[in-house]
Amino acid sequence: MHKEIIHGFSKLTEEEKRNFIAMLCNESSHAGEKFEGYLMEDETERSQFLDLSENTISSFHTPYGIAPNVMVDGRVYHVPMAIEESSVVAAASHSARFWAERGGFHVTRVTTVKLGHVYFTWLGYPEYIWERWHVLKLFLLERLKKLTINMVRRGGGILSLELIDAAKTAENLFKLELKVETINSMGANFINTCLEDMAEALDLFFAVDNDPEGKKCQVAMAILSNYTPECTVTVEASSHIDHFKPISERLPVGVFADKMMLAYQIAKNDPSRAVTHNKGIMNGVDAVLMATGNDYRAAEAAAHAFAARDGQYRSLSWCSMQDDILTFGMTIPLAVGTVGGITNLHPLARLSLEILGNPTAKELMGIVASVGLATNFAAIRSLITTGIQKGHMRLHLSNILNTLNVDGTLREEAEAWFINRKVSFNAVKHFLHERSS
Ligand code: MEV
Repeated sequence: MHKEIIHGFSKLTEEEKRNFIAMLCNESSHAGEKFEGYLMEDETERSQFLDLSENTISSFHTPYGIAPNVMVDGRVYHVPMAIEESSVVAAASHSARFWAERGGFHVTRVTTVKLGHVYFTWLGYPEYIWERWHVLKLFLLERLKKLTINMVRRGGGILSLELIDAAKTAENLFKLELKVETINSMGANFINTCLEDMAEALDLFFAVDNDPEGKKCQVAMAILSNYTPECTVTVEASSHIDHFKPISERLPVGVFADKMMLAYQIAKNDPSRAVTHNKGIMNGVDAVLMATGNDYRAAEAAAHAFAARDGQYRSLSWCSMQDDILTFGMTIPLAVGTVGGITNLHPLARLSLEILGNPTAKELMGIVASVGLATNFAAIRSLITTGIQKGHMRLHLSNILNTLNVDGTLREEAEAWFINRKVSFNAVKHFLHERSS
């Protein structure tokens, strides 16, 4: 570890950066070779890929798997998932297959409105801003036309523009709220460009009102909101309780259904369980977002804010039962894109969308949410029956054996030995030691 500050790191060439960082590692780590080894071979793809970020010296791999048979509104998708956590793809796959044989997932509602804000303080008398609002709005919308032509051509554009008194947030604060429809693009650049244009226009509009001592109108910031409560998808799946027999692990189906209901009730009302419950949903959601080049950080932030929208953090998904029909559902905010941005630039993201049949953003929202509900259902099923460790242990053992480079007969022996035993790194090492002595 160096104590000195590095100057001009960004000015170094890619190779110089790689060498410099490799020198910080032990020689035995072969860092330089590893950094190079994980780079893409195709020169164009490689430089396009590395240009997505800054100071890049290598690429960081994540396992890319498929959850087959995710049925959404009668259509079957084989869904790409990028995730390093074991069991998630297996859980999504089993759950998807189970539901596909029972009618699959259904999208019951989609909304696609995205928001952005320009925050500004107004130091003149407050009524003045409202008196001028009608003209200001026309001025701002007229200017925006030049930026929105293409989006309007694709069927999207500005839906509304409102002025909101935000004095409760801070003294003299106002905000302009822009609502937009961005069709198949996530729209972050489009929205931010519109907002920054409005911020500039505000300055111009109020220039005549400024005092020699200072501006009356001070823009604080212009930025889209990742909170998207009007850009949500609701998915549901339901089945008669008798159909849960194959997965109830010998619990009578009535008991299985009651335990399901209780598990969802706990997640709804107890925030400490709700967070874990929602983490299980985001396992599936994030993996599909990653694989399709979408912004999973935005989805995470929005999902958790949405989960706390009534003042208490709650589960995003629910379970209900009527006439012995068990229904699982979820509403989740998802601002996704299927064109533009990383979706076009990342070679595997592009392929992922192709595998999914080049869906529209609305279709992708349905697919992502269905996978989220699938991983959630799989987690709760395990929790109320066998517990999650049983399934994890097989994969955990496989990871340990890989780390210790164990294969062939010895691997098979280890797998057989641990079938009903507790797996830990030390236990596996002990087993190998015993076998070899
Ligand atoms: C693990 O990644 C996710 C779970 O903890 C989710 C849950 O508890 O519902 C299994």
